[in-house]
This record gives sequence, structure tokens and C-alpha cells, in this order.
Amino acid sequence: MIIETTRLLLREMTQEDYPALAGILQDREAMFAYEHAFSDEETQAWLNRMLERYRTDGFGLWAVVLKTTGEMIGQCGLTWQDVAGQRVLEIGYLFARKHWKNGYALEAAGACKAYAFERLDAEEVFSIVRDNNIASMNVAIRNGMTVRCRFVKRYYGMDMPHYAFSARREE
Ligand SMILES: CC(C)(COP(=O)(O)OP(=O)(O)OC[C@H]1O[C@@H](n2cnc3c(N)ncnc32)[C@H](O)[C@@H]1OP(=O)(O)O)[C@@H](O)C(=O)NCCC(=O)NCCS
Repeated sequence: MIIETTRLLLREMTQEDYPALAGILQDREAMFAYEHAFSDEETQAWLNRMLERYRTDGFGLWAVVLKTTGEMIGQCGLTWQDVAGQRVLEIGYLFARKHWKNGYALEAAGACKAYAFERLDAEEVFSIVRDNNIASMNVAIRNGMTVRCRFVKRYYGMDMPHYAFSARREE
């Protein structure tokens, strides 16, 4: 277990989490900002990348588990990302649709922010959000972040404008 909050546990994913992960990554609505629901191959590649990140970086997107049921309801965690040529630490979050709007993303993202500052000694932590993803922007804002820049990310054969939100330790 990496992080515990009032209602949630964050822990590393394992192969056994594949069905719960697929429930999120293969849901067209949850994946609208990514322009497509993932195939089985893309879902497995995503999981493999996270397992690799745990090994090489010591962190990644973790499984978010509801304490009351033990169910994996989402993913939230920290990854290295590129913002217009700069390597930044990012808090990412993706939750199963039936669990949206219960404050879970904010609860997990807030704990990841504290983890970045306190355990990783980060000076700044970002959330990178596509310009049409209102829900995600609101999580970043409610997590104490400010928009710093707009940049275009090439993904899935498309140019997608994104906003980089961040929180700084000094602030
Ligand atoms: C973005 C996402 C993680 C939000 O999860 P959530 O658990 O529903 O968010 P929370 O309940 O913690 O809400 C946090 C804040 O965002 C706001 N919010 C959540 N969903 C929203 C929506 N659809 N529209 C507008 N605001 C929204 C909430 O109102 C809340 O603010 P408030 O406390 O001031 O009311 C979820 O919608 C999701 O998994 N989306 C698909 C994956 C994705 O796009 N991830 C982000 C990639 S950058």
C-alpha cells in the first residue's frame, strides 16, 4: 500500500487488476479525452508501462481501491510527462464511470500532491488536461492548481491542445 486516505487505498496495480483497468480504459465515455476506447492490446500495454514505471521510477498510476469493498474504482498517481519539452511530475486520474462525482478523484489527487511534496521532495507538480476535459480541469483547480500554459500534444494522430496546471511547494 502506498497511500491511505479517509475512504481510499492507493497501491501498485498487478496483472490481476486487468479486468478493472479494462473497465475504465475500454469505456468510450471515460476515454473521450483520448478519442477512443482502448483495445485489449492497448490496455495490456498501459498496464505493462505502469509496472515498468513502478520499477524504474518508483511510482506510476496506482490502483485506487475503495476501503469499504476492496474494489478498484480508478487509477491515480504520479508519472513523468513532457510539457512542451520540459520533463514534469504529473498527477493523473481516471475513474470508473459509476464512481464519478463522489469526490474520489479529488481525495486521491490531493493525497498524491502531498506525496509528491513530502515523499518525493518535488518543487512543483502538474496535472495536464486536454482543453475539452472540464471534469479533469475542475479536479486540478480543486486540488489547488493554477493553469500555467497551453500547449499542443500530438496523440492518436491528432493535434490536441492541453493546459498544464501546477501547484508549487513555495505557494
Ligand atoms: C476527471 C475524473 C477523474 C473526475 O473524477 P470524479 O471522482 O468524478 O471527481 P470528483 O468527484 O473528485 O470531483 C472533483 C471536482 O471536480 C468537479 N467535477 C467532477 N466531474 C465534473 C464534471 N463532469 N463537470 C464539471 N465538474 C466536475 C466536481 O464538481 C468537484 O468539484 P467541487 O468539489 O467543487 O464540486 C473523472 O471524470 C474521469 O475519470 N474522467 C475520465 C478520465 C479522464 O478524463 N481523466 C483525466 C485525464 S487528464
